[in-house]
Amino acid sequence: MEKERIIEPKAIDTNESILEKSLRPKKFSQYIGQEIVKEQLTIYIKAAHIREEALDHVLLYGPPGLGKTTIAFVIANELGVNLRQTSGAAIEKPGDLVAVLNELEAGDVLFIDEIHRLPRIAEELLYSAMEDFYVDIMVGTKESTHPVHFSLPPFTLIGATTRAGMLSEPLRARFGIINHMEYYTDEELQEIVKRSAEIFNVDIKENGAFEIAKRSRGTPRIANRLLKRVRDFAQIKSDGVIRQKQADEALNMLQVDHMGLDYIDQKLMKTLIEIYQGGPVGIRTLAVNIAEDTETVEDMYEPYLIQIGFIKRTTRGRKATNAAYQHFGYDFKEE
Ligand SMILES: Nc1ncnc2c1ncn2[C@@H]1O[C@H](COP(=O)(O)OP(=O)(O)OP(=O)(O)O)[C@@H](O)[C@H]1O
Ligand SMILES: [Mg+2]
Repeated sequence: MEKERIIEPKAIDTNESILEKSLRPKKFSQYIGQEIVKEQLTIYIKAAHIREEALDHVLLYGPPGLGKTTIAFVIANELGVNLRQTSGAAIEKPGDLVAVLNELEAGDVLFIDEIHRLPRIAEELLYSAMEDFYVDIMVGTKESTHPVHFSLPPFTLIGATTRAGMLSEPLRARFGIINHMEYYTDEELQEIVKRSAEIFNVDIKENGAFEIAKRSRGTPRIANRLLKRVRDFAQIKSDGVIRQKQADEALNMLQVDHMGLDYIDQKLMKTLIEIYQGGPVGIRTLAVNIAEDTETVEDMYEPYLIQIGFIKRTTRGRKATNAAYQHFGYDFKEE
């Protein structure tokens, strides 16, 4: 089995999910970064308040760990309504979705995580639910079925997905508000780390927070996880205060390099550079070579490497850039 990846962008286990709940900002004023998303949503929320209507349906998409679930909860909180939560993977048949819809009160938020995984027939039910707040479902036995019309209160659907490309066009078209989540800057992550440290009651210096931020791959979830590990390190190895030195030593020990890259990134880049002379090479071939499935490489490994400019997507496949050659200590070969 592969060892646990400290910079895994998804939540590692339930303990981490529980911890994350305690770190989650509750209001936009506590939510750091994603300025465009915040600004737009704040306006729409105010407008919905004034009109006394449910907020338009919201689609949030972007890499894991950037705060999609957090935003859904913030929206419900700012609207002063309940949030019902489910996931595309948890809904197997239309009845599962109807059961969730049935619980909604006027103005409530229904949060569907991994909405791209909704089965087609459930997805089709959502069309009328989103547009006109009703569903027609067939009930009865195999021999005799009849349609039943369910009216729903006006509600706001918030869908989250890491793969917007996998959403069908009819579903996507029914979201009035579509927001892409961006990777965070080092400065934003530094603020997030400081805020979390305060909640953990740890003494952290600016340079300590910045060192963790720089190595968190633009991702708050990773920043919080690294903070936890660095905190342990600082407690055992020194006086518990996190300065740059403690952060640096702890993260070196965890084999997270100065750009937040680990052994998997290294394996991927080495394969691309050594076996395929820097590419271009197809994503499938690349994935096979590092014994991973294409989806994992595309969703989890590659986006950050593209973000920092180490991999380029071309029509003929993935290419390693000069910056990647330099970082991993290779001489760059011009074509
Ligand atoms: N803007 C932010 N400010 C402070 N903390 C944040 C912010 N965004 C995310 N976090 C923290 O990062 C953790 C992960 O965020 P969240 O669960 O919302 O990500 P996600 O995008 O829903 O991930 P996934 O795609 O895996 O569902 C949260 O516990 C939260 O504490
Ligand atoms: Mg989430």
